[in-house]
Amino acid sequence: MKDYLNVGGKIAIVTGSGRGIGRGIAIELASYGVKVMVCDINDETGESVKKEIIDAGGVAEYCHCDIMKIDDIKNVVAQTVKTYGTVDILINNGGGGEPPCDFDTITDERWDRYIRFNLYSAFYMIREVFPYMKKQNSGKIVNISSGYAIGGGDKCAHYASAKAGVIGLTTSIAKEAAPYNINVNVIPVPTTDTPGLREADFEFVADEIPLIPLGRIAQPLDIANTVLFLISGAADYVTGQIVASNGGKRMLV
Ligand SMILES: NC(=O)c1ccc[n+]([C@@H]2O[C@H](COP(=O)([O-])OP(=O)(O)OC[C@H]3O[C@@H](n4cnc5c(N)ncnc54)[C@H](O)[C@@H]3O)[C@@H](O)[C@H]2O)c1
Repeated sequence: MKDYLNVGGKIAIVTGSGRGIGRGIAIELASYGVKVMVCDINDETGESVKKEIIDAGGVAEYCHCDIMKIDDIKNVVAQTVKTYGTVDILINNGGGGEPPCDFDTITDERWDRYIRFNLYSAFYMIREVFPYMKKQNSGKIVNISSGYAIGGGDKCAHYASAKAGVIGLTTSIAKEAAPYNINVNVIPVPTTDTPGLREADFEFVADEIPLIPLGRIAQPLDIANTVLFLISGAADYVTGQIVASNGGKRMLV
C-alpha cells in the first residue's frame, strides 16, 4: 500500500504552538504520527497542547521559546535534537500583528518590534535548524506569512512589511537549500478564527465573509492541512512557493 503523506516518525518544531494556528498545526501533524516539539512563550498553554497530543496517542514535548530571544531559539533546537535526535520539519508560525494604526504613527520601536517578531524570528529559526537538515540531506520548512503581505495590510504597515519579508526569505532560502533536498514554502494566511484575532479585531470579519467564495473565514485546521501537505512526501517537488489556502479569496483585487 502507498503512504501518500509519508510523515510518520518525522520530527517537527512548531513555534507559537500554545494556541491558535500553531496549536492546530501541532495537533494535526501529531495525529499523522509526526513527533512534535511544542514551543511557546506561554508555558501553561504550551504544556496543555503537549498533553492534548499525548492524550490522543501522539508524541510531543514542550519547550519554552520566546522567538524574540536568540538564546531561546538556540535552546529549543538543541532540546529538540536532544529529545528526538534531529529536526526534520520547522514551522515558523510564531508572530502576529496588532490593532490597526496609521503608518505615520508607527514609532521606531514598534516598527523594530514587529519586524523582529515576524521576520527576524523566522530567519533565526531557519539558520539554527539548517545544519541538521543539511547534514541529513532533507528537510521541510513552512513559514507562516499573511495575505496582508501580498494584498497590503489594512493599517498594519509594519506587520505587512515583516510578513512580506517572510516571503522573500522563503524564496531566497528555498534556492540555497534546494541542493540539500530542503523544501521551503510559505503560506500567506488569510483571516483565521483564532484567539489572537478575536482579541485584536473581530468586527471586520462580518464584512469580509461575502468576499470569500467558500463563504467563511479559515479555521486553524484549514491552515494545518495545507502545512501537512507541504511537509509531506506529496510535496517533495514543491519549493519556494507561496501556497494560499484562502477560501478562494483573491489576494490581489
Ligand atoms: N489569525 C489570523 O487571522 C492570521 C492572519 C494572517 C496571518 N496570521 C499569522 O498566523 C500566526 C499565528 O497567528 P494566530 O492568530 O494563531 O495567533 P494567536 O495570538 O492566536 O496565537 C499566537 C501564539 O503565539 C504565542 N506567542 C506570542 N508571542 C510569542 C513569542 N514572542 N514567542 C513565542 N510564542 C509567542 C502566543 O502565546 C500564542 O500561543 C502568526 O504568525 C500570525 O501573524 C494570522
